[in-house]
Amino acid sequence: MADLPGISLGCDYNFEQWSPSVWAEDVALMRQAGVDLVAVNIFGWSSIEPRPGEYDFGTLDSIIGLLHDNGIRVNLGTGTSSPPPWLTTLHPEILPEAADGTTRSPGGRQAWCPSSPVFRERALALVEQVAIRYGDHPAVALWHVSNELGCHNALCYDEASAGAFRAWLLRRYGSIDALNKAWGTSFWSQRYSDWAEILPPRLALSLRNPGQLVDFQRFSSDELLGHYRAEAEVLRRHTTAPVTTNFMVTAHIRALDYWSWAPEMDVIANDHYLDNRLGDPDAELSFAADLTRGLAGGRPWMLMEQSTGAVNWQPYNLAKVPGQMLRNSLTHVARGADSICFFQWRASAQGAEKFHSALVPHAGTDTVGWREVLELSSTLDALAEVAGTTVRADIAILFSWESWWATDTEARPSQDVRYLDQVHAAYRAARRLGVTADVVAPGTDLSGYRLAIVPCLHMVSDEDAALINDYVAGGGHAVVTFYSGIVDVADRVRLGGYPGAFREMLGVVAEEFFPLPPGRRVTLAGGATATLWTEHLRATTAEIVDSYADGPLPGVPAVTRNSYGEGTSWYVATALDDDDLRDLLRAATRAAGIRGTGPESDGSVEVVRRAGADRSYLFVINHGKQDIAHPVTGHDLITGEAVPGMLKVGAGSVRVIREEPVA
Ligand code: GLA
Repeated sequence: MADLPGISLGCDYNFEQWSPSVWAEDVALMRQAGVDLVAVNIFGWSSIEPRPGEYDFGTLDSIIGLLHDNGIRVNLGTGTSSPPPWLTTLHPEILPEAADGTTRSPGGRQAWCPSSPVFRERALALVEQVAIRYGDHPAVALWHVSNELGCHNALCYDEASAGAFRAWLLRRYGSIDALNKAWGTSFWSQRYSDWAEILPPRLALSLRNPGQLVDFQRFSSDELLGHYRAEAEVLRRHTTAPVTTNFMVTAHIRALDYWSWAPEMDVIANDHYLDNRLGDPDAELSFAADLTRGLAGGRPWMLMEQSTGAVNWQPYNLAKVPGQMLRNSLTHVARGADSICFFQWRASAQGAEKFHSALVPHAGTDTVGWREVLELSSTLDALAEVAGTTVRADIAILFSWESWWATDTEARPSQDVRYLDQVHAAYRAARRLGVTADVVAPGTDLSGYRLAIVPCLHMVSDEDAALINDYVAGGGHAVVTFYSGIVDVADRVRLGGYPGAFREMLGVVAEEFFPLPPGRRVTLAGGATATLWTEHLRATTAEIVDSYADGPLPGVPAVTRNSYGEGTSWYVATALDDDDLRDLLRAATRAAGIRGTGPESDGSVEVVRRAGADRSYLFVINHGKQDIAHPVTGHDLITGEAVPGMLKVGAGSVRVIREEPVA
């Protein structure tokens, strides 16, 4: 972690948008708000290199000096996230190309091709200058490479990308024969005879090759990671401060396989915005926080960006109601964040983000928003002793970006089977039961968990499948949901019946998928209801827990349970409605001997524990409209009061209790 005590508060500061008189006021207000860490130079390129090779660090020097003089640490951007107009004018070949072959213009941000050698050279030259100038500056607590790499430009289809893709494929497959085999190119006369014939999967007249599509996703993720690595290497020649970049573990960005990125970060940092387009934004926030903790290997992490209120990029940009920002922030802390930062400090008056909320709103400091910022600041101060503790979970939910790519592709059994929906459904069910889950990569050692949930793990390697199967054989419990284990890493169907990789462990075999059209709901004999998916399943060694009462497959098993080795595995062959999935998971968690940290609820109550060797803290978060009571004994860090056995948590509030005795 960056060397910052307690639970730190931070923000992006786009000082370039303001005059020096505002800077002075801002730094005074930052002190009032107890801001510990300020990100600068995120979009600085056109200011610090106004003309090719001409560097002007005067303003950045002043700002960093001002922050330093006021005891505020700096999260220093390398400044390369968006090329300046002179660069795209001089070298239009760096501009990204979309799948339809059209070039994307500058005028927004991130207008660069990840494989452009010219962009790389110019960016690294800038990084070198920034690193030389500030590499040992005492204010710099953290280096912030670029910004949200791949937010807009992850998939680029131009000639530079084509060349880099071929080189990547050569490294992966070694020979054109191996590539032909992996992509199944005997189909539709797609056999390649030479590397030069291979292109990025640009839009075609018909469905594209799915093996090529998934490899292009892998390549694109690696390509941007390569960019991160190149910038980080330059920085490390000049600094010993930690280096990171801000991830986007969120519902609408799926291009980066952060499991492969995480080991290269000195600290894991995530940007998270509440997504009001989703059915249950609070549950998605908790999921993203738990996944970020998974990327951090269970260690504390940073929330690098969130908003105080509305964003500017959803169709309807909802403001946060009083208390919601504090609740969002403390949910991240409960799930392992030791730093809470915001985009951005002062709301812009101009530019595409002028209607994005900020710590200092357009209306100034005599506002509800500002008072909430001060409240958050004092709350984080009160939680300082929580820093460094970790979250323990009995459940592992397996999450895979590769499965996301392979599931949400072209030509699938149902366009409504979306990977993240299925993962979220499983996560929501666990959350409603009051149990805490770690979100981990397939391939993780599961032996420390009582239960593994494997939602829609469509693409899985032989090794990762074997780990899951061995875990169950060794006494573990698993719940596997439909469309899992279907293809190998080359997107090749595992033959012999679905779900190929887990057939034996689950004790079932399916011969055909029967997806349901929109609006169609099936009923199971036990009364549960489900949508989206059914399949012609037969139990081999499993016992049948429930079967369809209607729909296309009456009498066919829908939920099964199997004894496999020393363990137990459940298969859910349909998309159970939320309450029914929760009920099934309740049975599975009980069978696995898991007790929730919190009560069962409709998701409006979250109880999460962070603990260290000699201390434990219970976060009780009440998203609901009713006051609740929760049994706990200890000391309330926020109110300072003793909690003698029963804690009252008002509607919309959060309480954090140092437990006595330690749990
Ligand atoms: C991202 C970016 C920021 C800003 C916010 C707006 O997280 O990193 O620069 O654009 O989105 O929500």
